[in-house]
Formats: sequence, C-alpha cells, structure tokens
Amino acid sequence: MGLPVLALWELGGTEGCSGNETGLSFPVNCLDRHVHVAPDKVALIWEKDEPGEEVQVTYRELLELTCRLGNTLKRQGVKRGDRVTIYMPPCPLAVASMLACARIGAVHAVVFAGFSAESLADRIQDAQSETVITVNQGLRGGKVIELKKTVDQAVKQCPGVKRILVSMRTDSKVPMTALDVLLEEEMMKEDACCEPAAMDSEDMLFLLYTSGSTGKPKGLVHSQAGYLLFAALTHKYVFNYQDRDIFGCVADIGWITGHTYVVYGPLCNGGTTVLFESTPIHPNPGRYWETVERLKINQFYGAPTAIRLLLRYGDEWVKKYDRSSLKVLGSVGEPINKEAWEWYFHVVGETRCPVVDTWWQTETGGICISPRPSNPGAKILPGMAMRPFFGISPSLLDDKGNVLLENNISGALCISQAWPGMARTIYNDHKRFLETYLTPYPGFFFTGDGVYRTSEGYYQLTGRLDDIINISGHRLGTAEVEDIVNHHVAVAESAVIGYPHEIKGEGAYVFVVLKKDSGYTQETLTAELQELISKKIAKYAAPEYVQVTHRLPKTRSGKIMRRVLRKIVEDKATELGDLTTLDDHEAVQQIIEGHKLLVEGWKSC
Ligand code: WT7
Repeated sequence: MGLPVLALWELGGTEGCSGNETGLSFPVNCLDRHVHVAPDKVALIWEKDEPGEEVQVTYRELLELTCRLGNTLKRQGVKRGDRVTIYMPPCPLAVASMLACARIGAVHAVVFAGFSAESLADRIQDAQSETVITVNQGLRGGKVIELKKTVDQAVKQCPGVKRILVSMRTDSKVPMTALDVLLEEEMMKEDACCEPAAMDSEDMLFLLYTSGSTGKPKGLVHSQAGYLLFAALTHKYVFNYQDRDIFGCVADIGWITGHTYVVYGPLCNGGTTVLFESTPIHPNPGRYWETVERLKINQFYGAPTAIRLLLRYGDEWVKKYDRSSLKVLGSVGEPINKEAWEWYFHVVGETRCPVVDTWWQTETGGICISPRPSNPGAKILPGMAMRPFFGISPSLLDDKGNVLLENNISGALCISQAWPGMARTIYNDHKRFLETYLTPYPGFFFTGDGVYRTSEGYYQLTGRLDDIINISGHRLGTAEVEDIVNHHVAVAESAVIGYPHEIKGEGAYVFVVLKKDSGYTQETLTAELQELISKKIAKYAAPEYVQVTHRLPKTRSGKIMRRVLRKIVEDKATELGDLTTLDDHEAVQQIIEGHKLLVEGWKSC
C-alpha cells in the first residue's frame, strides 16, 4: 500500500508556527497549543482497513501535514470563506484537510464517502465549492471503493469545480483529468509552516449536509468558537476523558459524530483519537474488540445498529479479547433498545463501564442529553439518554404548543435556550432554517424528536415526529426517496415509510401505484428501484420492500394517510385508529393483505 504521507513527515518537523497572540483561533486550539507542550504525543491513530496496520500521527506531524495542506490550498487559489468539499474516508489527510481549511479560513463541507455521485454533485453545487479533496481509491471491509471515479462523475455536473486534489490511498493509478492535482506531491513542495487565519468567533467553520423531512438535504452551518467549545466540553465530561486516554469513536468523519468526536473534541482536548477505516465485521465480528485490545482504547463510542449486529454473532467474539482498558462505552445515532444496551453493558463492558446513551443531532453540534459518568453516583438506566448536558434546557411541548411541566409525560422535544454548539443557519437558506427549527414552536428550537420524561425527570427519546427515517443511524428524508421513485417511468405515485428493522433500527418501505399498462411487476420494479436509489442517494437508502398497490389510503381532501401506512408496516393493522376521513376502506384492506404476502414471501426466501 502506498504511504506517501509518511515520506512527508521525514522532511523535518515544525514546533508550531503561531505566536501566542493567535492562541484563540480554531486550528491553534486543536494543534499548535498541544505542539508547544507535547509535540510527540500521538494525536491520531489511523486504524486502517486491515487489522494490525495502524499508523500513528503525533501532534507535531499533524500540524506539519495541516500546514503543508493549507499552503497547497492557498497556492491552488483557495481563499478565506471559500467552501471546500472533502470526499474521503477516515484517514490522517482527511483530518489534515479539515484542519487546513480551518487554518486558512476556508469552510469545509465533508461528504460521507458512501454517498453516490449524484448526491455528491448536489452537495458540491449547493455549497458552490470550487475545490474537492478526495483519494484515488478507498478500502473498506477488504473491498476497493472507486472514490475518485465517483468524484469525476459528480464533477461532470458541476462546472464550478476548478480543482480536484487527489491523495493516493492505494498504489493504483486512476485516470487523471485536467482538474486533478496530486495532493502529496504538491504538499511536499510547500512550507511546513502556515500562519493561522484570525477568524471571528461567529465565522463559518463548516457545512454539513443532512436530510430534512422535505426537499433536498440542507447544509447546516457551524461556527468557530461556540462549536469548538461545545465539542471539547462534551467530549471531556460525557466520556470522562482524561489526559492519557485513547478515544475510539468508530463513526465515519462524514457524519457530525465524526466531526465532533473523532476530530474536533478530542484534538481540542489534546487527546489521542482513533480513525477507524473498517467495518465491525471485517475480517470477522471480533474486529472492534481486537482493536480495543491492540490500541488499548479507553472510551469506545459506536452505534446501536452495530451492537445489534454483533450481539447476533455471540459473546465469544467479544470475550476472546482483553477489554480491560475500556472505561466508558458510548452509543449514538438512534435509540438503543434494552437488549442491545444490556449486552453492551454486561458482555462488552463487563458491568465495569458506564454506558452513555448520547442524544444529539447534526444541528446541535454536540451531545445535548446524556448520562455523565464524571458525575459520581450518577444514575444510568438502560436505553435512556437521562439528563441534559450543562447549559441545555429541554422543554416538552404538546401539539397545541403548550409547555408540559410535569413528569411522566411525552411531548415534542424542544430546547428553550441557545447553546454554544447550535447550528447558526442553513447555508444560503436562512428562511428554511427558521421555518424548520424556530417557527414550529415559537420561542423554542424544535428538534423533530419525540421524548418521554419519566416520573424521576429523566429523558427517554421515542423517535422522530416528522418524515425522517433513521437507517443504521443514518438519516434519510422519505421525501427524498419519493422524489426519485416518482420519477420512475412506471410510477404514478408513491409513499415511503420507515418500518422497524431488527438490525438497522429502521428500513425504507415503498408503496407504489403503477401507471396504467406500465408492464412492470412488483419484482421487476423492486430491483430497479433498489438500484436507482442506491445510485441516486447511497446504498443504505435502498428500500428492502416495494409493494405495488392499486391505491394509496387518502383523506377525502387527497392527502396520503401516512399514519395508516406506518401502522401497516409495523404489523399493527388492528390499531389503525380514527379512519373517518379515509376515502376508500377497501384500498386499506388490500394493502394489508399485500403487505402480509410481501413480508411472508420475503421471509420464506
Ligand atoms: C437524529 C439525529 C447524533 C449524531 C449522529 C446522528 C436520532 C441520535 C439518538 C439517541 C435516540 C437518537 C434522533 C436525532 N438520535 N442520537 N441517543 N437516542 N435517538 O445525527 O444524522 O443529525 O440524526 O438521530 O432522531 O434527531 P443526525
């Protein structure tokens, strides 16, 4: 495997290139400050796809990489305020790319490297990025992923892109285009010192796209100082992070979890953070715990979907490895069911490690509701996010907008006071920001989630209240999928619903009404829609089920009754609730029968 990155580090070090007067700026807080104190402390451990090939990067080395990359960006014409799209798997140069943007005052927009060319193109265009940073190929679960090819396809639709910086993750040469710049080669020519730009605390730091309940994904904007403060504080207190700990958050850097708890929180705290490139089952289901043993990870932070998957493989894969380094176990991205929580706590953590079920969102920048094991004697209950973090004031509201003050009650989760890490706007669409978050309950930030407050005042998240579904901790707007389905030649109309999935938490279920004489069957359409959605969004979004039906249940005024469809896919057809506005009861009966046939047919395969 090519490791040109290592050659760079042999060029000589840097002791930081900022004076103390810039000590408040963002990149200085994550790098220079620590280089002054402990230059040889390990900042990153890159846990590559193949176990046992990890690469360590010290603070001094990371600063040097960042500076050379910052200078490369500048030489290529990237200026303060410009948006730079990063389409890379977790690796040191991806982190250096994020930090380099921050260092020169540019705004990074990381796009998860599992997104399709079309999704990437949409995001590049929305951000008006002239620069894309990528790798020639990715490696995940032993498979080669052609990331540069995907970028080339995307860029065909983005005339505004002026340059593609390509890092060589593998030895394979990929076809070059006129826009390509070989990243490592250019970095080697640059100075190892790059003066950090002085920024205003409210300047944009990054954009991160996330799905909404309507329309296209939105680029949430996070700012400099508040975000970093919140990232560092939550990282320290929620995980009880101590100076010498090795922090292992296995999320991809393409999501907010990767931004806050792989990169910014740990680095601002001068910690050692793991970049996990692989999957939980590569080369076998012991991968996480083998990594914990080898790297001596102290805090492990992962998603319930992976825990549910590993639980099925049995305890042996866990017990084979020494997990005595572990102190805290974290869960993020979706509700953690009791069974998974208990297994995580008893088997993985040997009842020694508190499990922190952390509730937050791309919008909140960092953890908002979570147990805090640093607080001695803190109570932790299975599957509960428990208590608000410092400075977060959750409020429960009913559908009339009344604040619910009592305990033992459910409501819409809102936050009644601004906090440092909150997103400031949606890029180029402040109106949408206000409409989505601040207008539904005037005076409150609306999270889109439902919550139950127990009799003791603890918080338990109950799921989304809008048309967003959560597949393996990845957020997907049903409207995004419907938009694609409705463009298929055979489709007259459709409705996409989330259904409970044993491993993924939720899956996508598509109801389709065919155009007359379309010539399609349920089977042929299923295969085509799965492929189409993988191609247009990402593989995780592909629906498991496509049910062809004659009609969709509608109100007399023509609105699709999603609530009815939801009950059907949840196998709760006996609890359809009030159907007085339904226009066609027979259609519902047919859908119930069709659903049974589809699910039973699938199970017997
Ligand atoms: C949505 C946010 C949080 C970073 C990764 C996902 C759901 C998240 C929990 C949890 C129950 C959770 C919510 C939230 N969610 N964490 N601990 N318990 N639900 O960020 O893609 O912005 O998704 O994920 O529904 O609104 P995201």
